[in-house]
Amino acid sequence: MLLSYRTSDLTWRLSILTYLVSVSLTPARRCARLTRHQFRRLSLTVNIKMNKLSVLKRAFSSSTSLNAVKTVTVVGGGLMGSGIAQVAAQAGQNVTIVDLQPELLEKAQKSIQNNLTRVAKKVHKDDAAKVEGFVKESFSRIKVSTNIEDGVNADLIIEAIVEKLDVKQELFNKLDLLAPEHTILASNTSSISINEIGAGIKRKDSIVGNLTHIPLNHVSYFRFGGLHFFNPVPIMRLLEVIKGDHISEETYQTMMAWGKSVGKTCITCKDTPGFVVNRLLGPYSAEALRMYERGDASKEDIDIGMKLGAGYPMGPFELADYTGLDTNKFVLQVMLEKTGDPVFRPIPMLDKMVAEGKLGIKSGEGFYKYKKVYPGLRARTYTIRSGDASARDIDTAMKLGAGYPMGPLELADFTGLDNKKAILAVMLDKTGHTAFRPVAILDRLVGQGKLGRKSGEGIYKYDK
Ligand SMILES: NC(=O)c1ccc[n+]([C@@H]2O[C@H](COP(=O)([O-])OP(=O)(O)OC[C@H]3O[C@@H](n4cnc5c(N)ncnc54)[C@H](O)[C@@H]3O)[C@@H](O)[C@H]2O)c1
Repeated sequence: MLLSYRTSDLTWRLSILTYLVSVSLTPARRCARLTRHQFRRLSLTVNIKMNKLSVLKRAFSSSTSLNAVKTVTVVGGGLMGSGIAQVAAQAGQNVTIVDLQPELLEKAQKSIQNNLTRVAKKVHKDDAAKVEGFVKESFSRIKVSTNIEDGVNADLIIEAIVEKLDVKQELFNKLDLLAPEHTILASNTSSISINEIGAGIKRKDSIVGNLTHIPLNHVSYFRFGGLHFFNPVPIMRLLEVIKGDHISEETYQTMMAWGKSVGKTCITCKDTPGFVVNRLLGPYSAEALRMYERGDASKEDIDIGMKLGAGYPMGPFELADYTGLDTNKFVLQVMLEKTGDPVFRPIPMLDKMVAEGKLGIKSGEGFYKYKKVYPGLRARTYTIRSGDASARDIDTAMKLGAGYPMGPLELADFTGLDNKKAILAVMLDKTGHTAFRPVAILDRLVGQGKLGRKSGEGIYKYDK
């Protein structure tokens, strides 16, 4: 298969965007001193200690106990809400879906029933009785209502409504008043700050015992956080658990345990624009569009380049069509507003296509033409700042959330950090693009001779 492109190395040019800023992570520095084995042992020890601490704290706390989520309410029965309700019901939890519109609840029920049948057929193959039993049992755990008060008595309430700050805030303020004290509140937002959404929430995990070593005036006790699922929820294995600035440790641990209980691999990220997956996909996708706009390479060749050269499951144009060009434009706008990073500046070609109604698969045409029109497909996108998430979580996010064969930091170690540094310098020189500016941790690691796999240590440590 032949590829033609004007600038030197198409694959490098695109894939560098996904790892270059990521290597500037503080936790990555910590990981860099450990072998994989040591890292796992350390994680295990830390987990055991954290669990012991949680058990101790639980005895003195009025909050939901770890793993105690048995009843879940999902507010918003659309694309995401119906998927979240399905995975919780499949895991044996009782679920209430609340939506404003009865017809959307009906649609959600139909879609859940169809999806459950698909799951059951995969598990039980031709055993019709077992298939029927599974669907019936899981489906019987789901109730629906248009009245929010029918859903407030739950251990966990997840919001998956329209992506508007004031609407979400209003809902959470109401839920905070109506829901029992132990209920954990969570948002599935993909682009709004968790701290901003929860600004009016008052519920806290109160420590009522006599534990003199736990600072009672510590602010980090809120029973609210982010649970960011990926679309389609029943299929995508990743769940980003977002730690707002004031989340209590116990609420966070309960969210992680709950995510695991519904079959997801959970990673943790601070309340930072786009969290992990979308933050990393944005610049990658934007740079791909700009390459095409400049005429550096055809969209077909860029897609082939990233699939065959970087092992990605979809090329950037296929991905943009799948998520929707309107959503891509919206995400760019939000990210520019939040980060000020020019990598997210508007892309005229994208704006023009959206104005012409070319939105990707859902409208029948985007970068490619499609025979079938799929309604309601949405997007995600984007770089990472120091300490937003651990190196391991960033790599897991991109593998499970975006289907990448290797995480960006694993890839950086694999390619060699000295090579990355050299590529950055060349790219900055040739393009003047801020995305290629020097990365402090990369410079430091290279300065210390930590070059990745080949030297035995880079972002991670390797057994020789
Ligand atoms: N679509 C995705 O790929 C995706 C991925 C991750 C996160 N998210 C986030 O999930 C949330 C929902 O997205 P979606 O794609 O499911 O949207 P959607 O439009 O499919 O569904 C939203 C639902 O919420 C209902 N709703 C709106 N206001 C409500 C209220 N006050 N009370 C009860 N119901 C209300 C609507 O009737 C609708 O059924 C958004 O915050 C979005 O950013 C979306």
